[in-house]
Amino acid sequence: MIVIVDYGSQYTQLIARRVRGLGVFSRIVGCHETPAEILKGDPQGIILSGGPASLYEKGAPRIGKALLARLTVPVLGICYGHQALMHALGGKVEKGGSGEYGRAQVELAKEDPLLAGVPAKHFAWMSHRDHVAALPKGFTRLAHSPATPNCIVSNPKRRIWGLQFHPEVHHTENGPRYLENFLFEICGCPRDWSLGDWIDATCQEMREESAGRRVVSAVSGGVDSTVMAVLLDRAIGRKSRPIFVDNGVLRDGEVAEVQHNLGKVLGLNLKTLRAGGHFLRHLKGVTEPEKKRRAIGREFINVFFREIRDDDMLAQGTLYPDVIESVAVHGPSDKIKTHHNRVPEVLKLIKQGRVIEPLKELFKDEVREVGRLLEIPAPILARYPFPGPGLAIRILGEVNAKRLKILRAADRIFREEMAASPHYDKVWQGFAVLLPVKAVGVMGDTRTYANVVAIRAVESVDGMTADWARLPYELLDHISRRIVNEVDGINRVVYDITSKPPGTIEWE
Ligand code: XMP
Repeated sequence: MIVIVDYGSQYTQLIARRVRGLGVFSRIVGCHETPAEILKGDPQGIILSGGPASLYEKGAPRIGKALLARLTVPVLGICYGHQALMHALGGKVEKGGSGEYGRAQVELAKEDPLLAGVPAKHFAWMSHRDHVAALPKGFTRLAHSPATPNCIVSNPKRRIWGLQFHPEVHHTENGPRYLENFLFEICGCPRDWSLGDWIDATCQEMREESAGRRVVSAVSGGVDSTVMAVLLDRAIGRKSRPIFVDNGVLRDGEVAEVQHNLGKVLGLNLKTLRAGGHFLRHLKGVTEPEKKRRAIGREFINVFFREIRDDDMLAQGTLYPDVIESVAVHGPSDKIKTHHNRVPEVLKLIKQGRVIEPLKELFKDEVREVGRLLEIPAPILARYPFPGPGLAIRILGEVNAKRLKILRAADRIFREEMAASPHYDKVWQGFAVLLPVKAVGVMGDTRTYANVVAIRAVESVDGMTADWARLPYELLDHISRRIVNEVDGINRVVYDITSKPPGTIEWE
């Protein structure tokens, strides 16, 4: 196992994923944790991530003597991690002038286990202002770049290596080679982390943790909850009880589709709670997006928790990014991301030891991979993400039966046309939004005054940033014509061409 100490880099999770991709389990720990916490589980090596701070800033994270003294396994510092390490060991980090950003050529000067198989010159991805100007005693320069004399350094005796560039990013040539050399040549890790083994071990753990009790979980038809329910089914069979709540703001045909996919295709012990009317009553008169979210979130808990009996366990599809502490680089932080998997009702069950979160070690792409290994059909795994508050946040203004009917019809046409086109898989998420305005139109000889629908289709990797999808005009034209012709109450369709940032993916 490898520990990645997070100094707040946007790439920290990428390092962890790359390491896992090479067959070694990795764990991320915040840089403000104690040495004992950082070294928990006896890692075979430690990687210090990059970060946005400069050692010259007040409160910039530093590597304390206590941790330094306990670093007996190989250490690889990357970017800020490299600078912090050199500084802590007595080297000199200089405040940079213009810095070095983007592609830079790295020229190797010496041989070293970290460089095995790396060509003498290659391009690497840089993103730094400061640089290490003088090395601590016992360190050797292994490579330089135009703006960075100490681009790669090592002290084989102390088993410490430092890289000023980012080997984890796609644009660094030979990046995986550096990581492989560190993991296998230097740390001597076995290549033994595989999701297939993870599935077997997790099923065994779930059997032990649940100890014959019933395990209830909430499923939405989305990837995470479906994978979790299939895992539970494999582990404990009929003792697993996945519950699907129809909250009244699902898409057209969604209840039947989820029942078919989960109940029939995957053979799960599914229970559907039809609570649409209940939710719609609580949404009556609510127009503010956050109030809609809160109303749906609260009623979901009310409806779902009624199903949990005294001796039941609860399984949640919490993922690894949800549990990683967000690091504030300008001082210790005790702030854990708040999310819906930690509402008071859940916290109470956690205290009683009644919550299991089988996916909490996995990244999203690993969950998909587990889904493939579990032979969940590809269309189920390729589903566009759908938010918990559902169509309620895609109907701007008040949500009622009439407006739901209009949006459902438009959204169905959009999804049908996307699914029939080769663009479905290129789009990360797509949907229709009902706007709270009316526009004038003319149909036949009559003037109309009806609703406007917006179409949103974005490309993204993780939903954090996104760009609007360049769908062909012909496809947009076809979608627009069908919606206006077939959906009563809509006379105009617009296409959203805003990226995220500055827009968000959803409209509310
Ligand atoms: P935004 O709109 O913030 O969306 O760019 C990013 C991703 O998150 C989804 N989303 C939600 N999911 N509850 C959810 O379960 C919510 O309240 C919520 N709001 C946004 C959104 O669909 C997109 O995939």
